[in-house]
Amino acid sequence: MKLCMIGTGYVGLVSGVCFSDIGNDVICVDRDIKKIDDLKKGIIPIYEPGLDELVIKNYRNKRLKFSTNLKDSIAKSDIVFICVGTPTKKNGNGADLSQIYNAAKEIRSAISKFKIIITKSTVPVTTGDEIEKIISHKVSKKLFSVVSNPEFLREGEAIRDFTYPDRVVIGTNNKKSNKILKNLYSPLISKGAKYVNTSRRAAELIKYASNAFLATKITFINELANLCEKINVNIEDISIGMGLDKRIGGRFLRAGPAYGGSCFPKDTKAITTTADKYKTNLSVIKSVIKSNENRSSLLLERVFNILNGKIKNKKICFLGVTFKANTDDMRDSSSLSMIPSLIKKGAIVNYYDPTGEKDDFKKIKNVNFSINIDSAIKDSNLIIIHTEWNEFKSINFKKKVKNKKFIIFDMRNICSPAKMKELKIKYFGIGC
Ligand code: UDX
Repeated sequence: MKLCMIGTGYVGLVSGVCFSDIGNDVICVDRDIKKIDDLKKGIIPIYEPGLDELVIKNYRNKRLKFSTNLKDSIAKSDIVFICVGTPTKKNGNGADLSQIYNAAKEIRSAISKFKIIITKSTVPVTTGDEIEKIISHKVSKKLFSVVSNPEFLREGEAIRDFTYPDRVVIGTNNKKSNKILKNLYSPLISKGAKYVNTSRRAAELIKYASNAFLATKITFINELANLCEKINVNIEDISIGMGLDKRIGGRFLRAGPAYGGSCFPKDTKAITTTADKYKTNLSVIKSVIKSNENRSSLLLERVFNILNGKIKNKKICFLGVTFKANTDDMRDSSSLSMIPSLIKKGAIVNYYDPTGEKDDFKKIKNVNFSINIDSAIKDSNLIIIHTEWNEFKSINFKKKVKNKKFIIFDMRNICSPAKMKELKIKYFGIGC
């Protein structure tokens, strides 16, 4: 089929490339000329393992094209995916949908034959109704159908999550559109993905509800970790013991420094804003938001206690600063609040991240980027493991750290407390 992806960010680029890799003709459109030129040269704007090879392969075999001409690209396509950003509004109240509605206005001026218009971006419930209204101002409803098809792609795992999804959710009551989309996704369904056809609003809500539930699961285990620290229990045992219950499941049940990223913080806020708009109070999710926002200061208190209140001039190393491993994304990463707070208390912070130096810290005095692990840890008083990159799992700290009284605070529980004890390393984990 002929597809047009509007927006070449995490969702549009990954979905577009993966659709081309299963045999569709895809045009990825963006108004950012430099981004499109770079993509044509195989320069990928996002860190996503394996994406570059797929882009080059499909661009070479001409199934994947890049363009800045939206009108022309829509005219050449049967299905148009809206994959533009829906960031949290500056006032923090819900999602900014201006890019979505602009795309709808541009689409309506390019429709001459039947088109399926799909919202793949995460959009609040009833956004599809709004898009339908915008387009039907100028185009007969017989010439288009607006469908919700939310993505469930995790950064760092996006290609796998596209290729082997648990489910494909298609929100439409239009039989023709449903048939066409079932055909589009048939290669994934034949590999085991479940196909769920529901109403458009239900599909929009499934996305938010899924992310809010995963954020709730993580916050639940993070709060239990706080209790475990007080009663000398290891949270990892709780995660395992709980997770073996198939009704609970072990994934997204690992205690950490707080959830971050471009989705959970945004989507939890957006769903509670939507509920408030309809006079319904999602109190559980509101408490999840609050608990997660408080977590960084709670962990900073632990750092303070670990260093016996003496932070001034202490050399603190952060191993990893992004919101999780296998991404270069800093959005809502807990390091963004922790590092400046430690600097304010007089600490000196060296950090190493496999994805390189971060603009977020360039302007902060006494925060230094180290080009490798050895130089980051060697003079440390305290080493904080902030992200769970594999390369942090086998460091010989005893050999590499000069200061023999160094301490490790492992915010991802990637080290074994028993091994640390055996090596006589002062070690603190999360929830143990
Ligand atoms: C998430 C959803 O998983 C994905 O389905 C949706 O499409 C986009 O948002 P992403 O934000 O890329 O994906 O990251 P994810 O892997 O879900 O992790 C989100 C946050 O939760 C990270 O900060 C991560 O460190 C944290 N996390 C995750 C935990 O603290 N513990 C866990 O067990 C899992």
